[in-house]
Amino acid sequence: IVDVKGGPDEGLDRVGLMIVVAGWVRTLRAQSSVTFIEVNDGSCLSNMQCVMTSDAEGYDQVKSGLITTGASIWIQGNVVPSQGSKQKVELKVNKIVLVGKSDPSYPIQKKRVSREFLRTKAHLRPRTNTFGAVARVRNALAYATHKFFQENGFIWISSPIITASDCEGAGEQFCVTTLIPSSREAVESPVDAIPKTKDGLIDWSQVYTFGPTFRAENSNTSRHLAEFWMIEPELAFADLKDDMACATAYLQYVTVAERDFVQLSYTDAIELLIKAKKKFEFLCKNNLPYLDLCLWHVRCSSFRLRSLIIFQDVKWGCDLQSEHERYLTEEAFGGCPVIVSDYPKEIKAFYMRQNDDGRTVAAMDMLVPRIGELIGGSQREERLEYLEGRLDELKLNRDTYWWYLDLRHYGSVPHAGFGLGFERLVQFATGVENIRDAIPFPRTPGSAEF
Ligand code: 4AD
Ligand code: MG
Repeated sequence: IVDVKGGPDEGLDRVGLMIVVAGWVRTLRAQSSVTFIEVNDGSCLSNMQCVMTSDAEGYDQVKSGLITTGASIWIQGNVVPSQGSKQKVELKVNKIVLVGKSDPSYPIQKKRVSREFLRTKAHLRPRTNTFGAVARVRNALAYATHKFFQENGFIWISSPIITASDCEGAGEQFCVTTLIPSSREAVESPVDAIPKTKDGLIDWSQVYTFGPTFRAENSNTSRHLAEFWMIEPELAFADLKDDMACATAYLQYVTVAERDFVQLSYTDAIELLIKAKKKFEFLCKNNLPYLDLCLWHVRCSSFRLRSLIIFQDVKWGCDLQSEHERYLTEEAFGGCPVIVSDYPKEIKAFYMRQNDDGRTVAAMDMLVPRIGELIGGSQREERLEYLEGRLDELKLNRDTYWWYLDLRHYGSVPHAGFGLGFERLVQFATGVENIRDAIPFPRTPGSAEF
């Protein structure tokens, strides 16, 4: 279909041509002497308006009600200028052939249907404009992801899905043996082996992986899936600063954003949250309006209904809740992506590099509006004795990690990487509120039917 809504004169150059459209009926409107059929062939978001009178071949099938919304058809006609205001051209139908009829129970009728309802029809929802659009944005983001890394000298690594290792030390995996909850380990090994390249803009020895990952957390939220796609680059001869620079360059590239991102330490972030908490407590105590916090709260409450009590437990050492993350990026920094770094080691994974203060690790999370955490990454502990010490501290078995320790035995280098949840990126880029609408077939607790 000519993308008839793509531009002011879209399709006019095709006037006079006889064409064939093979697609699905979006709507059908029969008037006394003329029938309008909107057809979509899946090639673009626009429908082709097809105008049909009784002299067209196959008209009897329309008249008898055999061709209805959802049916697949084949239409031949002439492209003519349209009298309607919605499109420049339409199809004057010569012939219509019914390919597959659609039962009247077809669930995607013209009336608005809710996203919740469509989630129960994941096999049909790509036929709606919204999901057609999200799928296209997802595709563009995947393409841009490969383009970014390839143009910057990264090598794509295919990582395994079945593993025997609890690679995050998080215990939130599916046990088959185990389905991989992150491919970090798989990209950490080759990064030590591939020679440093000078080809890219960012000249590190670098690899990335982009594939499905699995978490068995009971994640009934609008930003968690049991099966999600992750982009995980890993950079050799790199520290946390390089990691943050790479994450920033990547996000700016795929979203075409130019703005610099805010960067602050976990300690400073906690201070800001405590200030917000104190301000709120003061306003409450004195019965004063707390408009700014309230407005933020109203925006947030659509995704999880919790009161501002969330601020109560804020203190150094606590893990940031998604509301804290959203407060930082949406309110404290006015909608700018924020990178928080140097978290307490107790709330981060064993493999993150310990800072000299002995309390924090060289970790970073990138937070973005509406989502909270989009990226989690770190500089890795490349020093054998520190890594072994940390494994012991956490009572993790050294033998299980023999090969990971081996990489520190043989030519260890400072290295860093991050993981970005692809569906959260799709949410960020499209504005879809629920992560289940950012992937064609969402897998969440209790839903793996189709
Ligand atoms: O912060 P996470 O758990 O970090 C890792 O897995 C690291 N090993 C990555 C690395 O350093 N190579 O996960 C990374 C990102 C999160 O920031 C989030 O965007 C996404 O993965 N994510 C999820 N997305 C959807 N559903 C879930 N259940 C997710 N869990 C994490
Ligand atoms: Mg994380």
